[in-house]
Amino acid sequence: MPIHQARALLLSALFALPFTANAETREAPAAKGADDGKPLIIAHRGASGYLPEHTLAAYAVAVLQGADYIEPDLVMSKDGQLFARHDNELGLTTDVAKHPEFADRKRKATIDGVELDGWFSEDFTAAELKRLRAIERIPDVRPGNTRLDGQFEIPTLQEIIDLVKALQVSQGREIGLYIETKHPAHFQQLGLAMEKPLVETLARNGYADAKAPVYLQSFEVSNLKALRQLSSLRLVQLYGKGQPQDQVELGNPLTYEQMATPAGLKAVAQYANGVGPDKGYVIPRKADGSLGEPTRFVADAHAAGLLVHPYTFRAENQFLPINLQRGSDPAARGDIDAELRAFLATGIDGLFIDQPDIAVRLRNAAAH
Ligand code: G3P
Ligand code: CA
Repeated sequence: MPIHQARALLLSALFALPFTANAETREAPAAKGADDGKPLIIAHRGASGYLPEHTLAAYAVAVLQGADYIEPDLVMSKDGQLFARHDNELGLTTDVAKHPEFADRKRKATIDGVELDGWFSEDFTAAELKRLRAIERIPDVRPGNTRLDGQFEIPTLQEIIDLVKALQVSQGREIGLYIETKHPAHFQQLGLAMEKPLVETLARNGYADAKAPVYLQSFEVSNLKALRQLSSLRLVQLYGKGQPQDQVELGNPLTYEQMATPAGLKAVAQYANGVGPDKGYVIPRKADGSLGEPTRFVADAHAAGLLVHPYTFRAENQFLPINLQRGSDPAARGDIDAELRAFLATGIDGLFIDQPDIAVRLRNAAAH
């Protein structure tokens, strides 16, 4: 979608909608449940292929494109508020570097074993974070999105919920929240544990049990187990490379590879309802970079009673298997339809995508 069209759509939606979630919007009946149309289309950080990620605008456009769920990643402010950012380091996706009043907050820190030099959400109050504006994370790949740099605030979880409640009314359907806790062990060590405020905020807004259109996801294990003690909301174990960070810090040898075996998946099913694997667990790439053959991961996860929602599908060539790239421009769009069809054929229950409109179109076409 051209950016001017996305912006027009967004503005028409935003100005037409009530932005405060009042009793009327909370209780409005939804004609279609968020989980009705399998496989789920989860808008990865919003419609982040079209607008700067983790902004109300990116989430709203994703909903207007038909996404079933939007995906906020959450970090904590110094005063314990939940904000949507992929990283607690703010330099890549906000204009913090342009704020002279925050220049002295720049520092080095090791987050999840990686040394970083930047600005960190835990050093900023909620009011200070509200003075920042979002910028495009990958301007070389998505130059069109940079036209919106500086336009949008960093949203709180409550603001995202309010947006969803309002859009449910205008769209006449339930819209889900697929929320990731980012760096949970790190925030716990700072005395800013995310789990309780997250569950309490959701409960205040009527999201309290497994029937709610909510999934909570994490790459770590301990905080999912803690969430299971606090809530019956649905939980999803994410799978990356190596080990979950909390397991590293606990000195446990558990790896994602072990968690992907039939026995490992059964153990995950003791506390989670689903798994969110890097898509390579489902269909790895061959040595030459082309798309390979499906593994047993989906069948083994289903046998353990787990839903499977792989991440992350992106339309640009540089993110696609080499045999599905089109032309030589890494930022040009390749044959993502072919990649999506191959993954949908494996029986996955949903997927994370930066361009939800593409997956919605394919999913709906397959249903007819
Ligand atoms: O949460 C699924 C997927 O978003 C995980 O990767 O790094 O984009 O949060 P990331
Ligand atoms: Ca995420």
